[in-house]
Amino acid sequence: MKPINLAGLELEHPVMIGAGTCKTISDLKQALRTPASAVVIGSITADSRTGNGGDVYHDGGYFSLNSLGLPNPGMEYWRYQLRYYIENVEGSNPERKPLLVSVVGFTPEEYGLLAKTMLEQKARAIELNFGCPNIWGTEGQKPIPSFRRDMVRAILEAVSQAVADDTCIGVKLSPFSDPDQLKEIARTIADYVGLVQFVTTTNTFPNAYAVHPDGRPCISFSGSSGLAGLSGKAMKAVGLGQLQQLRSILPAPIQLVGVGGISSGQDVLDYLRAGATAVQVVTDYLNRGKASIDAILTELVELTEQSQPQASA
Ligand SMILES: Cc1cc2nc3c(=O)[nH]c(=O)nc-3n(C[C@H](O)[C@H](O)[C@H](O)COP(=O)(O)O)c2cc1C
Repeated sequence: MKPINLAGLELEHPVMIGAGTCKTISDLKQALRTPASAVVIGSITADSRTGNGGDVYHDGGYFSLNSLGLPNPGMEYWRYQLRYYIENVEGSNPERKPLLVSVVGFTPEEYGLLAKTMLEQKARAIELNFGCPNIWGTEGQKPIPSFRRDMVRAILEAVSQAVADDTCIGVKLSPFSDPDQLKEIARTIADYVGLVQFVTTTNTFPNAYAVHPDGRPCISFSGSSGLAGLSGKAMKAVGLGQLQQLRSILPAPIQLVGVGGISSGQDVLDYLRAGATAVQVVTDYLNRGKASIDAILTELVELTEQSQPQASA
């Protein structure tokens, strides 16, 4: 398979492991043992978070629900681990696969601080997560930046102040069911072409709900309403639709990374044909581990070879 260039990152092939899979250095080591071409660490926040305790993940077969609430060891952990890892443990990353870091701030300035700090520790790119739906406070669910033009602009403004001009910044969006809102947010991002080099679509579909046969909600923890982010196979058609719409609005220099429901080589090919430069796998990797990426890549190579014209004898 041909290598690809995602916003200046040389990737051996388009299949990455996406955010939500690597919260600790031991998760990262496992991900680097797969043949994925790059790994997204995080999402990480400025302070460490324990997340929501209880039944926070449900595998429903063709879909998954999660309401983890962004558990992660925080910026200081990764400030130390990332630099140490990249400088001293290269045996565990012999191919020097690019490491991206996904960040979530609770203010625009925090997004800027997280991006700057992780780039200083040699992260190759930052993915600004605008879409975590599972943060609930005493006043209810926190706003999701993907759906707020003012928040998108304020965060991009703060990040542009915090990082150098030539850094690789991506934005990860939630899925939009209102096409006009998708256009509005895409046009806001387009104002930051140059800063934003790729858009990742899509995060989980917010506030889905599932119950066990006896009526108990599948997602359940203290203070939970049972609502959770939807991922897995059920998200593929949604992700493809988001990608296709975004491709028609965003300027060409902003590349697209497809994520949502990828568990086969055919899924990858479908995203690439819809305009993605690269893709990320999350739920399937969480469910199957290394076997997921092995199987996806084996099938992708076969499909790519089949679609190439045969050399004449
Ligand atoms: C358990 C779990 C945790 C996740 N955590 C994050 C996260 O921390 N940051 C983020 O940007 N997306 C997170 N996501 C969303 C995924 O990165 C991805 O966008 C979404 O699940 C759709 O892809 P998939 O169908 O391959 O899972 C998480 C998803 C799952 C299932």
